[in-house]
Amino acid sequence: MTKYIIANWKSNKVNEEVKEWWSEFQAVYMDHPGVEAIIAPAFVYISTLNGFLKDKNYSGVSLASQDISPFPFGAYTGAVSAGMIKGLVRYAIVGHSERRRYFHETNQDVANKVFQLLEAKITPIVCVDKDYVNSQINAIEDSARQSILIAYEPLEAIGSGIPEKPEEVKKVVDDIKAVIKVPVVYGGSVNKDNAAIYLNVPGVDGLLIGGASLKGKDFAAMCQTAGAF
Ligand code: PGA
Repeated sequence: MTKYIIANWKSNKVNEEVKEWWSEFQAVYMDHPGVEAIIAPAFVYISTLNGFLKDKNYSGVSLASQDISPFPFGAYTGAVSAGMIKGLVRYAIVGHSERRRYFHETNQDVANKVFQLLEAKITPIVCVDKDYVNSQINAIEDSARQSILIAYEPLEAIGSGIPEKPEEVKKVVDDIKAVIKVPVVYGGSVNKDNAAIYLNVPGVDGLLIGGASLKGKDFAAMCQTAGAF
């Protein structure tokens, strides 16, 4: 089974820092069969990273956006529609708890984003929180359910430095997999020292990493760790 190791840069980095990150990453990174490294930069750096990727023959690195418009092309000022990044990314993160909290996104918005992404043949990575996991999954249309990845991210674990206990992660991931048969990754205070612990949890198909992915060499190290599973 593939392990998905996802770097969520959130709203970080200027152009120079993107170059530094890449130079550190490519100095350490090696492809491993069964590991997919996914980099999710801000929209403005997707083309930059595609340029860097073209110079390498990596089979295990792809890109994601951190969000997408719930609307198609049209009069939606400021929105980036899925058709615009079709062919530039393989994945898109949607429904991150920060989007839900600070941008007031609803389950219906997330469902609309999933629809737009699948039309553009981009795989949605749908983030779900512990307390609302059932309603957040149920909001996704039945026909889309088999074509997504789930990122289980308990709210208190995100950015707190305190990841959820592995036993608890296992319990929720088992519950998710009882209703939806797709890969489930864990996110919330994962770093290079605890990555192996979470990769070892039965049912966990990878990691969504925020703060600890901001250093290229640390992210590459976590991809190496996944290569051993
Ligand atoms: P964190 O963030 O690794 O900084 O806790 C994870 C996430 O929100 O995706």
